[in-house]
Amino acid sequence: MATQTKSKTTASEEKKSTSKSTASKSSEKGKLKAKSSAAEDLRELMMDGLKDIYWAEKALTKALPKMAKNATTPELVKAIEDHLTVTEEQVKKVEKVFEILGEKAKAEKCEAMEGLIKEGEDIMKSSETGPVRDAGIIAASQKVEHYEIASYGTLAAWAETLGEKEAQSLLQEILEQEKDADATLTETAYGKINFDAK
Ligand SMILES: [Fe+2]
Repeated sequence: MATQTKSKTTASEEKKSTSKSTASKSSEKGKLKAKSSAAEDLRELMMDGLKDIYWAEKALTKALPKMAKNATTPELVKAIEDHLTVTEEQVKKVEKVFEILGEKAKAEKCEAMEGLIKEGEDIMKSSETGPVRDAGIIAASQKVEHYEIASYGTLAAWAETLGEKEAQSLLQEILEQEKDADATLTETAYGKINFDAK
């Protein structure tokens, strides 16, 4: 009788353990499925971000020459012109990131950048040529830089999460250039503006 009970228990335990392992296997499978679909969604989000910044960089290649033309302080003019050259290179770098990810380069209108560029244009229209307009141009340019820093920082982090090392290093490279441009605007150009000048 005792043996029978024991064998019954064992059978029931075995049954339990089998059903437990089946359940754990199917939940593992579910997790894997969820993980791969999250990665796909993140990749899609990254592509949207890339299309957005691609549009923004292209729009900046048109906006920067207007800003340089409106600036007075030589250091500011130079900073903007230098950044135009860097921006033209960045358009190509972003195209390379598309290529690395096996996608065709496509620009999608970035409402945020459009607004920031418009803000810069409004400042230039509403101010007189000279130090105040220069200060306004710097303010608008720094808002642009900060938007780009946030965008590339995020894109580089997502590329790392997705295991896209080559894309990540290229995005990181652009991020550093944007940080440099921001520092130049703060440290060099802004310090050079002469507010006493007529
Ligand atoms: Fe840029």
